[in-house]
Amino acid sequence: MPLVSSSGWRWRLVLSTLLVCALIFELGEWLGTRRTAPKQSKPKLGKATNKGPRAATTKPKTKAAPAQAPAVLTQVVNRGKFKKVGETLSVPTGGTLELRCRGKPVQWAVPPYLEEEDDGRLRIVQHERYGALTLVNSTGADTGEYTCYPMYCEDTDCRKEYNKAVKVFVFFPDPQELFVPSSDYYEVIQLRTNWPTVLPCQVTSPEAEVTLHREFPPVEVAVDGTEISFDVKKGFTIHRPRPHHAGALYCVASLGALRQSSTKYMLIYVNYPMAPPAPVIQASSSSVTVGENLRVSCTVMGEQNVAIDFTWEYPGQQIGRPPYTQESAGPVSGGAAQQQSQSVLLVDEVRDVDQGTYTCTAHNLQGAKSVSATVKVIPKAKVIPKAKPKKP
Ligand SMILES: *[C@@H]1O[C@H](CO)[C@@H](O)[C@H](O)[C@H]1NC(C)=O
Repeated sequence: MPLVSSSGWRWRLVLSTLLVCALIFELGEWLGTRRTAPKQSKPKLGKATNKGPRAATTKPKTKAAPAQAPAVLTQVVNRGKFKKVGETLSVPTGGTLELRCRGKPVQWAVPPYLEEEDDGRLRIVQHERYGALTLVNSTGADTGEYTCYPMYCEDTDCRKEYNKAVKVFVFFPDPQELFVPSSDYYEVIQLRTNWPTVLPCQVTSPEAEVTLHREFPPVEVAVDGTEISFDVKKGFTIHRPRPHHAGALYCVASLGALRQSSTKYMLIYVNYPMAPPAPVIQASSSSVTVGENLRVSCTVMGEQNVAIDFTWEYPGQQIGRPPYTQESAGPVSGGAAQQQSQSVLLVDEVRDVDQGTYTCTAHNLQGAKSVSATVKVIPKAKVIPKAKPKKP
């Protein structure tokens, strides 16, 4: 499904709205509003219980000194043995992850899957000088980012100190599952012009060799590190999506004798406009006589292959006056990659009720803008009947 036809704008609006909602939601999560936001649980990865969102937080009880040493994250490797963690960490599946973060109090963020699932494997405790996170009976699905936020408190009012957050990406290499399992058979991903897009095939082991593949025709996609790059903590990123990137793609991971495919990613290319449209409205005349025809045009000059939707408001609307519109879109002759989209509102045989303001709203995926024109209706010049000579 590469270029979507111009009639698909409505669908695209819906899609992009969903995407924006998702982004806002993610931002909200990132800002830590997750604790209060009601959240729909996704289907679980083969686990039976779902006790709702998990608050991976510790209620601060004590007042902290305003100036705190930067947080330090350590891994408890053995009883009483600590290791300062680097960027990544590997814990064998089935094993226990034990992290300590200096600060009182601290707050933790764990991979979304773990936060949704409260199966008793994750334990968070605040001690006098540090916070402790313990995850037991780990699985490959626990792979992801673990973050500790020191809290700045004034009395009972605490906030996260984002700039002092420390994080570690933890792999749980699973000898059976090279990819972090996904509950979806495929995932639809929108490719927007020049917006970096991630194919989130996350491996459970940093040692896995990961390649990118196209389903039809079945070829391996070249990963040059510039156009497309791979990050073992994220997956593949298409940096500047183009229409030719669209299609069904999947990742393949190899480790030793094991070779596995990821979930499928359906990449749909959308021409995403740079800005909301800038319509220009023009009436055939600012004053029309009753009985004449009126023509109001609304024109947008914009990028090529960007669909514009027009809506109208007009004086005769309330009484159900039925004007009709003609819409057109086409390249501008001589113009470089420009497109003219136009909607023309036609009113046949103007009546008094057609006097007033005509408003055209042009929409694209970035937004909408309205423009108005006022039309005056002039009564028909009365044909004054000639005074008939009076009969004597
Ligand atoms: C961890 O696994 C062991 C052995 O299967 C089980 O007895 C224990 O209850 C599990 N712990 C948690 C917290 O799920």
